[in-house]
Amino acid sequence: MSNADLVKRDLSVLWHPCTQMKDHEWLPVIPVRSGKGVWLEDFDGKRYLDAISSWWVNLFGHSNPRINAALREQAETLEHVLLAGFTHETVIELSERLVEITPPGLERCFYADNGSSAIEVALKMSFHTWLNQGRPGKTRFVTLENSYHGETLGALAVGNVELYKQTYKPLLMDTISVASPDCYQREPGESWHDYSVRSFEDMETTLARYADEICAVIIEPLVQCAGSMRMYDPVYLRLLREACDRHGVHLIADEIAVGFGRTGTLFACEQAGISPDFLCLSKGLTGGYLPLSVVLTTNSIYDCFYDDYRNLSAFLHSHSYTGNPLGCRAALATLDIFRDDNVIEAGRCHARCKRTLPRAPACRRGPPDRDDTGHRDGEGAALPGTLPLGGEAWPQGLPARTRPRRAAAPAGQRDLFHAALCHHAG
Ligand SMILES: Cc1ncc(COP(=O)(O)O)c(C=O)c1O
Repeated sequence: MSNADLVKRDLSVLWHPCTQMKDHEWLPVIPVRSGKGVWLEDFDGKRYLDAISSWWVNLFGHSNPRINAALREQAETLEHVLLAGFTHETVIELSERLVEITPPGLERCFYADNGSSAIEVALKMSFHTWLNQGRPGKTRFVTLENSYHGETLGALAVGNVELYKQTYKPLLMDTISVASPDCYQREPGESWHDYSVRSFEDMETTLARYADEICAVIIEPLVQCAGSMRMYDPVYLRLLREACDRHGVHLIADEIAVGFGRTGTLFACEQAGISPDFLCLSKGLTGGYLPLSVVLTTNSIYDCFYDDYRNLSAFLHSHSYTGNPLGCRAALATLDIFRDDNVIEAGRCHARCKRTLPRAPACRRGPPDRDDTGHRDGEGAALPGTLPLGGEAWPQGLPARTRPRRAAAPAGQRDLFHAALCHHAG
């Protein structure tokens, strides 16, 4: 079997995501036969460095032996059971662990099966909480310019990347968008902190004006990833948490891309010392193995739904694969690696080494052959994970025109952009 054989078969039956299929007339899709560590291999024996961690999902390498073993065991025991009226030990254990490691106050886990679905859950839960509290007028969401939250209709509505949104505008709910705190836009000599504080004014004005209509503010904490890796200072999150409390508005933190170590802490919200009302997680949750997502929320929000069935205040939302045992087992194995290998601390040491010894041989060496656990010294996180936040490493170093725009370039080429940028940053 060669690449050419598979490309031919692929193009006769598949429709690829986020792709103008005509581009594949000149840029062949790459058929991957296997993955090991950071490497992918095609059917002609050519190897590729997966520098974008397969859309930022993979944390500890392809075909990781520890996650493989956990999945084998789970598959022999229980592959799936519905989560309405039934439960299983793996989802209970995962929920206990997530409650323990996420910011304080997040005590309830609701599962879905991809990032966009988690956003839909958080939006609906926020609206429904206000409804159950007798506030039906709260129907709108505030989003940041340049944000990205996924492709389903609700998630698309609260995102702000025009390329994805424009076509579907007639189908989308009305949202309020405020200026992005993206520190790339700051004035010469202005600090990240000062620019983030200054850009918060727009948010404050908006919340003061529309608080009675607003359910929640939704943000990607610290890094707007699909919007070209735009970063801002944690002070913005502190101001936002305080303003949401003052104006009676929920805060939804979408850590689907930045969670699980990508910004140097396990969760980006930790850097601001805040807890959101809803925390959305996916991607790295299963180490890049299986589609699973979760929304964590507080017991006080949970209590707003806890009532006699006949009052119809329950959250009647579900997906067939909610809390799938295989996904949950992959997530537990991923959390074990974080804990047993002290991944976050090791990653910090590595970042310090890179900052202080930029020309040390170890830092100049090309990508290592990571074929066992797929990570070394905490390395292995995808794009922002290996970057020290708050520094000048990325946004100031790169001219704007070289920044990647997901899907603005032809399929495949866009991944090369991401890979090149990752190399540039590393
Ligand atoms: C911040 C953020 N939220 C939500 C999503 C959507 O996740 P999914 O692609 O699993 O639907 C993404 C995907 O890139 C993302 O980066």
